Amino acid sequence: MLCISKGDIREKGGKMSKLAIKGGNKIVNIKPPHYRWPVITQATEESVLSQLKKSISIYNRSGIIEELEEKFKKYYNRKYALLTNSGTTALYSMYIAAGLKEGNEVICPTYTFFATVTPLFFTGAIPILVDCDESGNINPNKIEEKITEKTKAIVVTHMWGIPCEMEEIEKIAREYNLLLFEDASHAHGAKYKDRKVGTFGDVSVFSLQAQKLIPAGEGGVLLTNNEEIYYRALLLGHYNKRCKQEIPSAYELYRYSTTGMGLKLRIHPLAAAIASKQFENLEKVLRGKRKNAKYILEKISEFTCLRPPQFKDYMEPSWYAFVFHYLSEKLYNIPIDKFYEALKAEGCEELDRPNSTCPVNYHPLFQNPGELFTQYKGKIKYKRGDFPTAEKFHETSLKLPVWHEDSDKEIIDLYLRALEKVTQNYKELI
Ligand SMILES: Cc1ncc(COP(=O)(O)O)c(C=O)c1O
Repeated sequence: MLCISKGDIREKGGKMSKLAIKGGNKIVNIKPPHYRWPVITQATEESVLSQLKKSISIYNRSGIIEELEEKFKKYYNRKYALLTNSGTTALYSMYIAAGLKEGNEVICPTYTFFATVTPLFFTGAIPILVDCDESGNINPNKIEEKITEKTKAIVVTHMWGIPCEMEEIEKIAREYNLLLFEDASHAHGAKYKDRKVGTFGDVSVFSLQAQKLIPAGEGGVLLTNNEEIYYRALLLGHYNKRCKQEIPSAYELYRYSTTGMGLKLRIHPLAAAIASKQFENLEKVLRGKRKNAKYILEKISEFTCLRPPQFKDYMEPSWYAFVFHYLSEKLYNIPIDKFYEALKAEGCEELDRPNSTCPVNYHPLFQNPGELFTQYKGKIKYKRGDFPTAEKFHETSLKLPVWHEDSDKEIIDLYLRALEKVTQNYKELI
């Protein structure tokens, strides 16, 4: 096991210091939080205050709504961008607008935040879960075996900001004439072979929730080049003025414009004002994250009991988070819980074990959705154990934020030193 720096974790006389969990001094002695996101800049404050004075409800595509949608259209080179009040409702809009219904099947990742898949339950379509590969993303080699004559679409999530194998997945979607959807909620600005993720799918969706790379507080956006899908998404949640403004009167569904489908999924203008300003920092934040991620990656790779995030050299992750793995078999079978608790005791407040983001077959909703969605009674029976790779990925995961400033190096080094201390002093955990 390689060391990072012996000096700081030895007490006078060269003896290894005791682990903090056993009463020793902790390594990270800086007051939390050790990571702040979103960064509410003065420009963001001014943007919100200015919007507050202009309007706090916008009925059509104008003002801050138009401004932010135009930013997304330009950045992603898409014909249409539609803001919504969350990533979840953007996903819901995508599925409804694509016309999914009972009798359809949709290929979905098992390992994702559940909201990638749960809106499907409102359509009647069946989510067909597919295991991940060692990157945590849907395994392209396992997709074809799940395709039937009922399959209508494939949805992928670029987990933790690491792009999926889009070339292979796109090829399968084309060959079987399936719609391709991307949940890029973790992956604003991530690239696959120099192409931004979110530009491969017939529709792509981004969450703009506070932790995301373009934070609105709460919000989402749907991107597409497909006119019909865009109009239907408008009708779902943006009734009256916006539908009348944008849907041509000759379009057959125009007559529904006043009511749409009856829902209201608009983003709040103050949230749009936050995201619009934050968008301007995206490339800078990505550069900073990539630099720090490279450093963390190199250091983590030196530990035999840790496995760094897996991705190909033609991928540029967004580094929404740094998810790596603890391999207990390489550290005398010390369970991950103990390893994690020891690191927390060393002061690694920002270290996390993902919880609600887990293989979706862990959730009761995927084991027995019929109690909440009656049309699914008896139709879906996923259970723990169904997806070994995703389950192992999850059970061994540890998550760090990816700091984006050069000045964050100090805290990063302390976290790395805490990892080193715990791995070196493993005997105290046996
Ligand atoms: C991958 C993924 N998809 C969808 C969502 C849902 O987004 P929102 O929280 O904006 O509804 C999230 C939220 O964390 C997510 O991580």
